[in-house]
Amino acid sequence: MNILLLGSGGREHALAWKLAQSAHLGKLHAAPGNPGIAEHARCHALDLSDHGAVVAFCHEHAIGLVVVGPEAPLVDGLADSLRAAAIRVFGPNQAAAQLEGSKGFTKDLCSRAGIPTAGYVRTSNQDDALAALAQFGLPVVIKADGLAAGKGVVIAQTAQDARDAIADMFAGGFGDAGAEVVIEEFMTGEEASFFALTDGATIVAFGSAQDHKRVGDGDTGPNTGGMGAYSPARVLTPALEREVMTRIIAPTVKAMADAGMAYSGVLFAGLMLTSEGPKLIEYNCRFGDPECQVLMLRLKSDLVDVLSAVADNRLGSIPHPDFSPEPALTVVLAATGYPASPVKGGMIADLASAETQGAKVFHAGTVRDDAGVLRASGGRVLNVCARGQTVRAARDSAYRAVDAIDFGQGFCRRDIGWREIAREDGE
Ligand code: AMP
Ligand code: GLY
Repeated sequence: MNILLLGSGGREHALAWKLAQSAHLGKLHAAPGNPGIAEHARCHALDLSDHGAVVAFCHEHAIGLVVVGPEAPLVDGLADSLRAAAIRVFGPNQAAAQLEGSKGFTKDLCSRAGIPTAGYVRTSNQDDALAALAQFGLPVVIKADGLAAGKGVVIAQTAQDARDAIADMFAGGFGDAGAEVVIEEFMTGEEASFFALTDGATIVAFGSAQDHKRVGDGDTGPNTGGMGAYSPARVLTPALEREVMTRIIAPTVKAMADAGMAYSGVLFAGLMLTSEGPKLIEYNCRFGDPECQVLMLRLKSDLVDVLSAVADNRLGSIPHPDFSPEPALTVVLAATGYPASPVKGGMIADLASAETQGAKVFHAGTVRDDAGVLRASGGRVLNVCARGQTVRAARDSAYRAVDAIDFGQGFCRRDIGWREIAREDGE
């Protein structure tokens, strides 16, 4: 089967690497792809917002399955356009992608279905938003309703900060995404990422991970897309995972199906493990980045089989996806200045010697210049991944590989995995 993979980051390189291991793969195409993905796929400069062009590409290259990496094309309805042209696709339709595309939509759904999450007020009126603050303690969480590239969340420590955040959102600080805001109660606990595959009826757990969102060691500095991750998140015990499935994921999938918006694809739940049990922070309609990288390193099942079964609504008929019990860890190498103003163009060398250390390097933001030299082209540049018998062993392998890479204008956190390693040390 020929597959078209959409996206250009480390998540998509990890998916390409795993798809390429499948016996069922014919030709792998990617759009736009990156130099790492190009090791497995033919990369094309397709405009993903031009649905007609994507459909025409699929017909021309006899594409049997489209795998959508990022959320934007899904929220934009690309999966609907592909399905309307009878092209199989892994990823939800536009209506179902609202679970990521509109935070207010998800909060209302949780409220109707009794799904544990933070208390909230949703409004598109600035005065109502300001008045609603009185219902919340401090800190309070202010969110732009729509997609804001991971930046539309403000945790306000003071009432003034909350008022400023609301004013900023209604003034267009986050573009259209802030035309409506969600004000939320602040939850405390440890965060974990949980993944479930669903075809709208059958639901299958697909691994867990923990991300490191802050840019600096010790979880300091501004938020980022994620500076490193490991899988599994052992803090999400089998009992807690069952609770997440029955109290959060299953009622969501059922509510979506009942509303005529059956969800098909991967449902990524950001969870807060509170003293009252797991609560939903947010949903994403795609794999996490860099969480996907560590999931793919552990996945033993054939990814083409799994994603095809989701796309064909026959997830219940395939064996349960199988993961290595060994943990995997990834360290993000970012460009100096990330997240505010990453320096582009930094030279990268010695990736091959990093991989001889038993690690796997995924490209997240790289380009090859005209002379064939690999250079940084984004904030998060490389994902250096390794597996090990323990998280500590995986981390040691990953950092050995990091140290073998020549990327003078890059940096990374040196403490990825610290929570889990502290737990291992305590055993
Ligand atoms: P989100 O984009 O919704 O995942 O939010 C980004 C980050 O903000 C999350 O990973 C949490 O660390 C934090 N966050 C979001 N909502 C809440 C909440 N209600 N309580 C505490 N922290 C939150
Ligand atoms: N790493 C978090 C995300 O992909 O949203």
